[in-house]
Amino acid sequence: MPETDPQRIQAVLDAAVHKARRNREGAPASYIPELARVPLEVTSAAITLCNGTVIEAGDASIPPFTFQSSAKLLPLIGLLEERGPVEVFRVVGSEPSGDNFSSLARLETHGPLPSNPLVNSGAIALCGQLGGSVSNRTSWLTRWAERLYGEPVPIDEKVAASERATGAKNRAIAYFLQASGLLTGDVEETLAVYFNLCSLAGSSRVASHLPAILAHGGHRPGTGEQVLSKATVAIVVSIMATCGMYNESGNYLVATGIPAKSGVSGVIVAVVPGVAGIATYSPRINDKGGSVRGHFILRELSRKLGWHFALASEPYESHSAPPPPPSPPEPTRAET
Ligand code: DON
Repeated sequence: MPETDPQRIQAVLDAAVHKARRNREGAPASYIPELARVPLEVTSAAITLCNGTVIEAGDASIPPFTFQSSAKLLPLIGLLEERGPVEVFRVVGSEPSGDNFSSLARLETHGPLPSNPLVNSGAIALCGQLGGSVSNRTSWLTRWAERLYGEPVPIDEKVAASERATGAKNRAIAYFLQASGLLTGDVEETLAVYFNLCSLAGSSRVASHLPAILAHGGHRPGTGEQVLSKATVAIVVSIMATCGMYNESGNYLVATGIPAKSGVSGVIVAVVPGVAGIATYSPRINDKGGSVRGHFILRELSRKLGWHFALASEPYESHSAPPPPPSPPEPTRAET
């Protein structure tokens, strides 16, 4: 059975973070200049168990980091809850794209719908669905952020400004969506909402609350308050499993069996159904926008704690998770 003993989990997490620090591969995303101005070696992780216990490891008291694409879960969840799946899947698909997170090529060849809600085009299309002014839409997002992270989550205005100043690729995507009829209203306003979404900022502890709600069948860890419907949880965790790590979703899932969503700041949030939500943070990212050390920590948790979803019925001592499939050498910069 998956391990749930907090002391054992703490020991495994401490060791995983310690070992992960030795890895010097990857580099901070530089296409958003503000993201490159972070301490390179910072590494932190937090696990929120379904009973509300929080287990932390690594660097404490670091400045808040932005949640970036891990926050794409918010418009998906909020819209599923408020309008239902039929409305949501009118503007985005639910298939892995096999392409990088800001791919335009795929929209043209397989569009007009973005492949899924977790690539940039999908999240921008959903930000367009919110309707209303930038400030109304941003308030909607911050209300959902407070609900899903369990406390108010500020927007890092410097990062949001940096994204607005350098977001040519996202502008191209958004205007392409407008040309296809998928984005109505003012494109720049929708982009401003999307950049605010990506700039929500907090700690690993705060980031781990959202996946813990998903792990707990939509209930708030600790209190048991029903926050999300079971239908929403099933859709979101499935899309995380198949699409959450972009064009390394397959390799990642084989190696860990823990559905997850990455962000280009170096955060990864991950769901161990029935057990815990996890957040890891280290700004050294690979060319797919995934944190190198975060991948390592999640692999360690999966193997040492029996958290691979396919092995949930096995005593955790009796298996070691499958080795990761061979992957090409890691380039050191994020795709732009
Ligand atoms: O749109 C962008 O480029 C960023 N604000 C978010 C991209 C991101 O986090 C990709 N994920 N790993």
